[in-house]
Amino acid sequence: MLEDTSFAIRPVDQADEKEVWQPVGDVQKIEEKKQICSFTCENASGKIHFYRDDIVRVTIDPFDGKYDSVSPAVIATPEKVDVHVQEKENGWTLQTKQLTVIIERSPFRLAIYDQEGTLLVRDVQPVCFEAKGRMRCTHALAPTDVVYGLGEKTGVLNKRGAVWTMWNTDVYAPHNLETDPLYQSHPYMMVLKNGHAHGIFFDHTYKTTFDLRHESFYTFTSDGGALDYYVFAGPHPKDVLAQYTHLVGRMPLPPKWALGYHQSRYSYETEQEVRELIDTFRAKHIPLDAVYLDIHYMDEYRVFTFDQKRFPHPQSLVQYAKEQGVHIVPIVDPGVKVDAEYDTYRDGVQKDYFCKYADGTLYKGDVWPGTSVFPDFLKKKVRKWWGEQHTFYTDIGIEGIWNDMNEPSVFNETKTMDEQVVHDGWKTHRQVHNVYGMMMTEATYHGLKKQLKGKRPFVLTRAGFAGIHRYAAVWTGDNRSFWEHLELSIPMCLNLGLSAVAFCGADVGGFAHDANGELLVRWTQVGAFFPYFRNHCAIGFARQEPWAFGETYEQIIKRYIELRYEWLPHLYSLCFEAHQTGVPMMRPLMMEYPNDRETWNISDQFMVGNEVMVAPVMRPYTAHRIVYFPEGRWVDYWTKEKFEGGQRYIVEAPLDRLPIYVKEGAMIAHAKAKLSTFIKDEQLTLYVYTMKEGTSTYTLYDDDGTTFAYEKGEYVHMHIRATFLDDTVYFEVETEGAYEPTWQLRVVFVGDVPSTVVVNGEQRAIEEASIVL
Ligand code: GLC
Repeated sequence: MLEDTSFAIRPVDQADEKEVWQPVGDVQKIEEKKQICSFTCENASGKIHFYRDDIVRVTIDPFDGKYDSVSPAVIATPEKVDVHVQEKENGWTLQTKQLTVIIERSPFRLAIYDQEGTLLVRDVQPVCFEAKGRMRCTHALAPTDVVYGLGEKTGVLNKRGAVWTMWNTDVYAPHNLETDPLYQSHPYMMVLKNGHAHGIFFDHTYKTTFDLRHESFYTFTSDGGALDYYVFAGPHPKDVLAQYTHLVGRMPLPPKWALGYHQSRYSYETEQEVRELIDTFRAKHIPLDAVYLDIHYMDEYRVFTFDQKRFPHPQSLVQYAKEQGVHIVPIVDPGVKVDAEYDTYRDGVQKDYFCKYADGTLYKGDVWPGTSVFPDFLKKKVRKWWGEQHTFYTDIGIEGIWNDMNEPSVFNETKTMDEQVVHDGWKTHRQVHNVYGMMMTEATYHGLKKQLKGKRPFVLTRAGFAGIHRYAAVWTGDNRSFWEHLELSIPMCLNLGLSAVAFCGADVGGFAHDANGELLVRWTQVGAFFPYFRNHCAIGFARQEPWAFGETYEQIIKRYIELRYEWLPHLYSLCFEAHQTGVPMMRPLMMEYPNDRETWNISDQFMVGNEVMVAPVMRPYTAHRIVYFPEGRWVDYWTKEKFEGGQRYIVEAPLDRLPIYVKEGAMIAHAKAKLSTFIKDEQLTLYVYTMKEGTSTYTLYDDDGTTFAYEKGEYVHMHIRATFLDDTVYFEVETEGAYEPTWQLRVVFVGDVPSTVVVNGEQRAIEEASIVL
């Protein structure tokens, strides 16, 4: 492995690649029809297309339509927009209620402003192309601008200072601050400029790079395809998410069980081992909602099979698990073993469903089953066929699938499929590589959805492209049991959330390497507040079940898994918010306090909704940390101690304490801890963190947690407004939806108990600091 030594930086490789970039030239002709402005330059044609007042699309094509986009990301169609066009001496101005686009004639250059006149995008160099089919654009970026998003990237929250590449890649080597790219591609970023946010989405499936190393500009380069990007006006970070997810869709509500605690290992190798695992959770009264079957469940790693010796009775295993309130989630990889006696291989070959070279030969690559072929997920009928194969699982009661290795990963030098493979007719793998995994996951989701007859499927995926959240939750792949990887998981998931992947998490405890009790405790504490909460661990390393490191650690881990279940009504309500607005459950502080520059670069604290802040300890032998509190007063969740915001404090955090802070005035719904989401809540408690004076609001959402009936109004959505005044709390409660909840809502006051409580104009008696709403 010469590239692992200093050989990798020998001078001969450091010479600049000779590139011949050509500008698109001056604008020669322009034509405006409805909300599309078409223009012709010396070397390219282009369009400026308003999708809404606050969303504009820019396309520039120097290749005469040779590279049709195959991106599956955008699902919205343009709405009607009134555009005011004016010709000026140097060019043209196009204006909607929220955006102004200025086209400079000579040479062609764009500048885009929001309605307040904030500059969002400006070509500091003309858009360029290269004969080979590459495109480059260079936009202004002020030295103080902060850049977020870009999906699944290592490093800190702010992505400036590095070059980021989009090319879905399986990386088992330790993920460092510089490890790039990883499994997903989200060519999207959110820029925060003096507290104003805007977004930009380069809808390119080819390999792309974002060069964010410079002080006053950034460069976007695509290895192919005409330039195609969207600008979102903001100005609030939440507006940008609403705008971006208007375009690429929002997450469907997952089944509630997908939000519970999940236990995984590569692998639980026999049916007996899985039963014993579930029995141990139950004997120890530790909540559990899902157990994963990694590759050992299969017959020599053939997907859609069970190993007859290890798993002779899969149906009764799934049934047994369900009786204990646990779902079984098997892994399904895209590689199909080359084996003439294997049905999936035979059927796929007969139907011509596997990826091929242009000359018609099958592409073969090595993965877990040995030599394998790969379904051409770019073809609709292949996706349908693949989805149908899942009756193998759903027929025995399985409701969740884990898609892995779908970059696609191949055990060779390039780590993936040959770029010369052609998909769905004549699209090269070079063009569609980044969307292959998303297309597989779409097939899985739709297959399951059909087969589950009204129940919500759960799909987990490793690879993805912009829009993946429509089908699956995402986990950040093969991390390690390192403290640094625990730290890394926060900015990684925050930026995934800012890239619309609201339902995401990292392997709790770390996948490879050996965890220890302290690390597993600290990681479980953090994981309990991540959207997706799974403990997973690799073959050959220390076991990582909650009891793996002895009684003391087990008790703390158990407490935090229980805490997850106590917080589920809050988390589920936030899931609904993400489903409706695109705003993720787990948020950087910046999202709630964009005008507070102290928050812009915080990578080690996060918000769970708008009024709860988590500040974990992520260092060994450490029982304290520094916490930044944004403006307002904050209450320690455990001790009820108060903190005045706008400053930092050193807080104590012994091993059994995850620092959690709730904003004064906030309301948070909790349930009683329970062993599984299978158990219905009879009572929820709304903790009201009282304040002297002021108003706060809370939205509690619930439904049956398993079906799509919520789409037809079968939900309960409580909008609660609390006004604190003169020792009295006035609640105004409005309830929407047709779902009859299984619970009663009790209000408990935290802090000073008011002397009077009025609910919708009616005075209520307070007993033991609580009332029933
Ligand atoms: C990959 C996955 C990991 C899984 C393993 C075996 O490394 O990222 O989660 O356990 O494959 O299937």
